[in-house]
Amino acid sequence: MPLNWPPQFLFTVCQSGAEQVLKQEIAAGPVDARPAYSRPGFVTFKLEEPCQNPEQFHFPSTFARTHGFCLGKVIGESTSTLAKEVWALPAVEQMLANQTICDLHVWQRDARPPSVKGFEPGPTLLAGEVETVIRQHSPIEELRSMPDDPRPPSRRNRWVLDVVMVEPNEWWIGCHRATRRVDCWPGGVIPLVLPDHAVSRAYLKMTEAIAWSALPALPDDLCLELGCAPGGASQALLEHGLRVIGVDPAEVDSVVAEHPNFQYLRRRSAEVPQKALRGARWLAVDINAAPAYTLDAAEEIVTSKAASIRGMILTIKLSDWKLAGEMANYVKRVASWGYGDIRTRQLASNHQEFCLVALRSRGQRRVQRHSRRHSRADAAHPGKPQGPHLSKNM
Ligand SMILES: C[S@@+](CC[C@H](N)C(=O)[O-])C[C@H]1O[C@@H](n2cnc3c(N)ncnc32)[C@H](O)[C@@H]1O
Repeated sequence: MPLNWPPQFLFTVCQSGAEQVLKQEIAAGPVDARPAYSRPGFVTFKLEEPCQNPEQFHFPSTFARTHGFCLGKVIGESTSTLAKEVWALPAVEQMLANQTICDLHVWQRDARPPSVKGFEPGPTLLAGEVETVIRQHSPIEELRSMPDDPRPPSRRNRWVLDVVMVEPNEWWIGCHRATRRVDCWPGGVIPLVLPDHAVSRAYLKMTEAIAWSALPALPDDLCLELGCAPGGASQALLEHGLRVIGVDPAEVDSVVAEHPNFQYLRRRSAEVPQKALRGARWLAVDINAAPAYTLDAAEEIVTSKAASIRGMILTIKLSDWKLAGEMANYVKRVASWGYGDIRTRQLASNHQEFCLVALRSRGQRRVQRHSRRHSRADAAHPGKPQGPHLSKNM
């Protein structure tokens, strides 16, 4: 293990602008940590006590996309000098000696909030160039070449070396255990692209929500989407193989409206007839309204006798960051409807909002894996909808 083990400093990465809300979330959470260094999109914390069991360390957070232990930083002008310094850091040398590192992630902190001036979180050209140079200087051969394109996720339950480019010439070095699915991608950002045929950016949000939550939906399951116009999220659901009933008083793009597995109800959520709910298994809500309104709309559906909602994907809008302080109450309210597995995350594609995914129980995931194996055993029928635009290696 590295020389500075047990580690006491953590780095976290979040949406640019979410630093304060992340600090508040950690202050109110179970981990005893104080904020230390902070830049937009990058916050470090000092743990009250050194972490005695780094492999099992649990850092629950909605706003931290990823986190890891700090190992040091390098500052300078020359990329190749900095790259050599990364490998020469005593803590990194120690990890190498113990053959602990199995992959390398290099990324830049978010330059600005998502969609501002066309910015989207994720891999950048500069980070790719820097990663190439760092790898060229790697003392271990397995890390010397760049990953394939598309990049495969890092192997689960291994240590990954992190280089966070806080500035182009200031890199923070850390490491994290790739425990969760999102930990397998640089900066905790699942590599997704908004395809040209997507009718709105919400396609990206829904695709990321499905991938992050490993939504246990089965082909042909029926999903009700409240706030579906112009239709990007419905498109992603359709491409995931679901049938969709979209509800919105605003106009849905004809590409979506005319899809054979899409039914359009041009009205407000409160005006959805009970009979439309029959057979619905999933609920998605992305209404541009206050959290209480979104939760009221969801409650009306899930508590209706006509529906049997196994799980939901809610986008909770934070018109004011202060609303993030109510998160525990939102979760409690969803739990009170009978949902035992609730996860929240500010997705990389989220604006000032976060995603809440709720399932009746954890066991649903196992059931879905089983059913999917069996449904896959039957050959896919012709005209099966195209899958979502995820990296092939997801
Ligand atoms: C962020 S947009 C949804 C984007 C959409 N999910 C997509 O994939 O393109 C929010 C939508 O909520 C809709 N909306 C607002 N109040 C609503 C209500 N009471 N019921 C249904 N939709 C509503 C708006 O008309 C708007 O189209």
